[in-house]
Amino acid sequence: MQEHISTTFKSKFEEDVYKGITDFPKHLSSQYFYDANGDKLFQDIMNMPEYYLTNSEYDILNNHKEVITNWFSKGGEQFDLVELGAGDGKKTKILLEQLSRTAVTFNYVPIDISQNALDKLQAAIKKELPAVSIKPLQGTYFEVLDQLNSLEHTKKVILFLGSNIGNLLHEQAIVFLRNIQELMEEEDLLFVGFDQKKNPQTILDAYNDATGITEAFNKNILTRINRELGANFDLDKFLHWEVYDPESGTAKSYLVAKTAHTVNIGALGLEVAFRKWESIHMEISQKYDDEIVSWLAEQAGLKIDAEYSDFKNYYKNYIFSKKI
Ligand code: AVJ
Repeated sequence: MQEHISTTFKSKFEEDVYKGITDFPKHLSSQYFYDANGDKLFQDIMNMPEYYLTNSEYDILNNHKEVITNWFSKGGEQFDLVELGAGDGKKTKILLEQLSRTAVTFNYVPIDISQNALDKLQAAIKKELPAVSIKPLQGTYFEVLDQLNSLEHTKKVILFLGSNIGNLLHEQAIVFLRNIQELMEEEDLLFVGFDQKKNPQTILDAYNDATGITEAFNKNILTRINRELGANFDLDKFLHWEVYDPESGTAKSYLVAKTAHTVNIGALGLEVAFRKWESIHMEISQKYDDEIVSWLAEQAGLKIDAEYSDFKNYYKNYIFSKKI
């Protein structure tokens, strides 16, 4: 039991770490994976042969770029291409390049939590696609929704790639999609990547690589708590464990304590006790099928206009519009 209950927190990070690590069972939020080191580790994950998601989506965009961008520029009016969680924009560049060959006028509006990522992306676009007008916005997905609202009344095509939606439980995904749907007008589009259910072994391998990059990615949040909240997590006292449930389509990652021990988190005035083999739930990476995606769309008031798959059927990108 905790003696010291902190009621005021200096940041959302402090508050979320406090709530998660004093909860039973313990959990931490994967949204905090992405500091500078986490961004770098995620880049490494995207380059691993086991992490098929990136290549699958890349192939879909590359193979279908003409029809996809035709959807985006349908009607011929100017639009904002808004990307949620832009990252390094590697895949988006395929669409930007294709669009810049056409006569349609558009602004690329990448939104990311990391200003560092946005600066790099802007520099890369300026260099590689100088004709593209880029207007980055920094913020979380939740701030993003407000920022979207404050954009001028221009047609919007909203990109949410990388199966980033998979970090949300269905209930949260519906709220998220519904919030976007409420900002959309009749002519606006939402383009989302969904990783598909497949051989469970393929999924486990993607999240449990032999080289330990995913383990380092997960443990980076402990390093972050050590540095930013004055804690003394010993990373070697935890192992990374991945499970995949083929029925629900949910992959979950855990850090598991190998020994009983305690950890101090200075900024929270907390002593956290771990029992031997106690877990911290870190992340969910949801996998989808047609039924689930149709249901999510229905619940969020969206209709499916088109869908594209890679030749292995590992991954799908959907175009949604507002159900009127
Ligand atoms: C960036 C959320 C799509 O869940 O597949 C990669 C993050 N976690 N390996 C995913 C991640 C472990 C990734 N997303």
